[in-house]
Amino acid sequence: MELEGRVVVVTGGASGIGRALATRAVAEGARGVVVADLDGVGAEGVARELGDRARGLWCDAASEDDVARAIAVAEEAFGPVDVFCANAGVAIGQDEQTPDDVWDLALAVNVRSHVIAARLLVPGWLERGSGWFLSTASAAGLLTQIGSAPYAVSKHAAVAFAEWLSVTYGDRGIGVSCLCPMGVDTPLLHGGDDAEGIASTASSVVKAAGDVLSPDAVAEVVVQALREERFLILPHPEVADFERHRTADRDRWLAGMRRLQRRVDGG
Ligand SMILES: NC(=O)c1ccc[n+]([C@@H]2O[C@H](COP(=O)([O-])OP(=O)(O)OC[C@H]3O[C@@H](n4cnc5c(N)ncnc54)[C@H](O)[C@@H]3O)[C@@H](O)[C@H]2O)c1
Repeated sequence: MELEGRVVVVTGGASGIGRALATRAVAEGARGVVVADLDGVGAEGVARELGDRARGLWCDAASEDDVARAIAVAEEAFGPVDVFCANAGVAIGQDEQTPDDVWDLALAVNVRSHVIAARLLVPGWLERGSGWFLSTASAAGLLTQIGSAPYAVSKHAAVAFAEWLSVTYGDRGIGVSCLCPMGVDTPLLHGGDDAEGIASTASSVVKAAGDVLSPDAVAEVVVQALREERFLILPHPEVADFERHRTADRDRWLAGMRRLQRRVDGG
């Protein structure tokens, strides 16, 4: 799967990984890229920088009407959407005491938005016999997230949905890839920097767990993985070993994670 000549929509495209994906798609020769973000001014700014082959718009990725509008903008400007990057995400919430509205927002943005996009796009993709769904989940979706249950749970759900799409439609022309990075140098990772307690815990654990990559480096790995039509995209290759350990002996893996949690609790 090459991005050249494709029509691409990127949610959360005003910043970080989404911005890098949109920029890289244009550089790869995409026919058109729609940058859709809750930060509409940022989305329009990114699109302006990218030139004629980009459009930017305000869009809540968790709203079916908004995502339908983003798809319509792409269709009108460039033609049917070939690649949808379900990338918008929020790193919020801490534990079981976190209020329902925060849990709901994490689930709405990190997973239900993917369901909404697929609902809108899959029928057309099946008709045309092609389409690509790129889900930005997280290493937290394969492992866990110390310090944030809503993030761990919603990202596991995003991985599960991407797998389900691939199983269900993979033989009917729809490709699916699932991006699962650890730390990437974006505002989302640094959001906990000035916070106290668990929010700062989550970001410092991620930063300590491995290299913090640039969004551009992640986009480079994505382009290569799409070219090879791989499902799992791991910019931090060690995540594959961590996942193997987890599935080989769950109790041992949990004991190791509890050791890490104790170290975090002890500062
Ligand atoms: N940065 C990391 O370390 C890291 C690691 C693993 C996974 N991720 C995932 O990567 C994705 C992109 O995050 P990032 O690190 O680039 O963060 P970021 O903060 O730079 O960008 C996230 C963008 O999503 C937008 N957004 C938030 N809610 C939205 C909504 N409801 N609708 C539309 N846009 C919305 C924000 O306005 C922002 O522009 C997220 O899904 C995140 O969970 C990030």
